[in-house]
Amino acid sequence: MSYAEVFDAWKRDPEGFWMEQARAIEWERMPSRALFDDKAPMYEWFSDGLVNTCWNAVDRHVEAGYGDRVAIIHDSPVTHTKHAITYAELRDRIASLAGALKAKGVGKGDRVIIYMPMVPEALEAMLACARLGAIHSVVFGGFAAHELAVRIDDAKPKAIIAASCGIEPGRIVHYKPLLDGALAQARHKPDFCVIFQREQEVAKLEDGRDFDWHGFQYGVEPADCVPVEGNHPAYILYTSGTTGQPKGVVRPTGGHLVALNWTMKNIYNVDPGEVFWAASDVGWVVGHSYICYAPLIHGNTTIVFEGKPVGTPDAGTFWRVISEHKVRSFFTAPTAFRAIKREDPKGEYLKKYDLSGLRALYLAGERADPDTVNWAADMLGVPVIDHWWQTETGYAIAANPVGIEHLPVKVGSPSVAMPGYDVRILDEGGHPVPAGTLGAIAVKLPLPPGTLPTLWNAEERFRKAYLDHFPGYYETGDAGYVDEDGYLWIMARTDDVINVAGHRLSTGAMEEVLASHPDVAECAVIGMSDELKGQLPVGFVCLTKGVERPHDEIAKECVALVRDQIGPVAAFKHVAVVDRLPKTRSGKILRATMVKIADGAEVKVPATIDDPAILDEIRGALGGIGLARA
Ligand code: COA
Ligand code: AMP
Repeated sequence: MSYAEVFDAWKRDPEGFWMEQARAIEWERMPSRALFDDKAPMYEWFSDGLVNTCWNAVDRHVEAGYGDRVAIIHDSPVTHTKHAITYAELRDRIASLAGALKAKGVGKGDRVIIYMPMVPEALEAMLACARLGAIHSVVFGGFAAHELAVRIDDAKPKAIIAASCGIEPGRIVHYKPLLDGALAQARHKPDFCVIFQREQEVAKLEDGRDFDWHGFQYGVEPADCVPVEGNHPAYILYTSGTTGQPKGVVRPTGGHLVALNWTMKNIYNVDPGEVFWAASDVGWVVGHSYICYAPLIHGNTTIVFEGKPVGTPDAGTFWRVISEHKVRSFFTAPTAFRAIKREDPKGEYLKKYDLSGLRALYLAGERADPDTVNWAADMLGVPVIDHWWQTETGYAIAANPVGIEHLPVKVGSPSVAMPGYDVRILDEGGHPVPAGTLGAIAVKLPLPPGTLPTLWNAEERFRKAYLDHFPGYYETGDAGYVDEDGYLWIMARTDDVINVAGHRLSTGAMEEVLASHPDVAECAVIGMSDELKGQLPVGFVCLTKGVERPHDEIAKECVALVRDQIGPVAAFKHVAVVDRLPKTRSGKILRATMVKIADGAEVKVPATIDDPAILDEIRGALGGIGLARA
């Protein structure tokens, strides 16, 4: 079948399409129907089915005779180690960990926060929760204690599973002190913590609260899989919104299994048994979907890579991993390729490795700029597939479905809508616009299986953030257009979210931190474009009247404050002290105009501006901190 035929088949009978895909999953009780629309616009899928994620990701492959197949390869250039875990070993390890959690009272519906680096134990912790029907929430290691505390207070976990440390090039990330700091700040206290001690750093455990990962499992009864309803939350993943309070995206169990399984062949074009690699981090949605769940559900081998595209030890690391482990499909963020291109523009490292097994490169997480796509295609000699999605959806909204039909690539476009997504471009009034016209990208409800049904404990916020603006649609927060051939072009965010090295960050959250500095009266954070990371945050602060301390001292404190409160991942390093911020006469800060100035783009002075002279002051301030662009 062609892409058009598959898409039409879905459009003609969406429920029939998804029920058919649901047959690839082993249900304890098959759902009676696909869509549950009685609470529209709050939709659910497969709600009355009974199923277990861990069973489908692990046990069933062992039962089917594939216990000796490698499930996970841990390749860790930062610790100079590599090892493989088979599906049978993985099942036993997960059953044992789940048994220990169960013995301590963790059960269906309890939340468990996981704070771990790129080690297989992170996946085991996620799957052990899934085995019990407990709801995990993984927190990225680059976040500071405060961000962890915010998530602890929102998710109210019964337990926290953490590692003693992570390893960034040139430094150890001390997870345990960060965890202790978060627990000191959080109002909610978990019953207990489980600490995976790494040999690079053995953390001090607190009596009665902290348990060693290994000792904790000793002598316990392994736990069986607990079937849960199709609409039971599999996990909560916090993502950036417009404020400092992150949004807890809920992932429903049944739809997650069905949809992810579908993507592995149809988008990523791999068959069970083949090696799939997503070079991301388990703390992000790409890590949830394509390091942990989808490859395992589909019976592939997944790679847990603990390293960077460059510097661990060099710009050839990705090629080594692809050739050594026979990776068929490879997924990463464009920023990783920009980093490699910067170090090795001629691809000298590529010559050292045999990449003949690689069939395609997939890019997502941020806009794939044509230079990067073309360079990657030239160097690797395989199709480069840009695809567009978000934490909220959990898998691609638009892609080139290579496993169905390799559509012509249009560089700069993530290609076409996937079955399940009725993508529309709307004007401010919510009316569809003609092909080629820029507008807000929305998806006609219902969203397909596996996408977010709501936000954790925040249904009102869910409605307000995604449903209210365009009734009958899900608002993606991205702007763009569809061309005459139905290809989507993603141009910008419509909110204050920025994308720094493929990481989604909130400028609003950074502004809240800056505003807490005692000398700051007012502030704005913008994302200026950056050749390597896509965007970089830049802060502008106005000082409280009478403050006469040196500006560079205050700027340094602001940088340190954001690192301390949000974390190193914010990559917040630039602050300019200014007298005033450009505003409209009604007092709205003109952030978009500030971005244009920072990018050196042509600036049209907004008709509503209070005082145009401020724009030159902003230009001057950027020059003052070495960020002037012609
Ligand atoms: N734990 C702790 N700290 C982390 C971290 C983690 N898991 N990940 C990143 N950090 C830190 C980095 O060490 C760095 O700290 P520094 O300011 O002390 O140098 C800071 O956060 C910023 O990190 P990053 O933006 O990643 O920059 P970088 O210079 O370390 O690396 C790239 C740049 C391009 C190599 C890197 O960003 C990359 O590989 N990106 C791929 C992105 C990705 O996988 N995105 C997921 C969506 S697909
Ligand atoms: P996240 O939720 O972290 O996956 O970030 C999702 C956001 O990243 C999207 O809403 C887009 O703004 C951006 N994004 C992700 N993939 C792409 C892509 N292929 N092209 C352009 N932007 C993308």
